[in-house]
Amino acid sequence: MKEHKPEVLELKSAYPATPKKLFEPLIVCFACNYCTYAGADYAGTARIQYPPNVIVIRHMCSGRYDPLEFLEALRLGADFVWHAGCHPGDCHFLTGNYKASRRFALLKKLCEQLGFNPERLILEWVSAAEGDRFASIVRKLLQKYEEIGPSPMKNFKEEL
Ligand code: FES
Repeated sequence: MKEHKPEVLELKSAYPATPKKLFEPLIVCFACNYCTYAGADYAGTARIQYPPNVIVIRHMCSGRYDPLEFLEALRLGADFVWHAGCHPGDCHFLTGNYKASRRFALLKKLCEQLGFNPERLILEWVSAAEGDRFASIVRKLLQKYEEIGPSPMKNFKEEL
């Protein structure tokens, strides 16, 4: 069986390269093609204002998210990793989001064991019609950033 490799290179190229930008809050949103990605797109076309601190990584379905990609995002200094997708019952592949949310619960426990604040991993569903919800979650995460501060991986990178 062929081993699946996460799109690490794509993820790396999406990250800020200059040390100055390391302390900008960074949210990495994993979005499914049919709902959350379309919701983010809708926020843009409807000109709903939200901070530009979010990188959206699209997959066809949240059931296709690879937990290693989430870990890689944290390793590269993401302050928040946002697991998004269609609302329960709305997945275009029927059960992808149910499977993904079960994996997410395990991943959250693993990240806690690795020393990350579990609040850095969030699960929020966004439908294609919820551009305003997408924007409000980004704003909410930036408020949370004020409370919990930058990712410990940013300090680590600075020391290198
Ligand atoms: S297609 Fe959106 S979660 Fe499956």
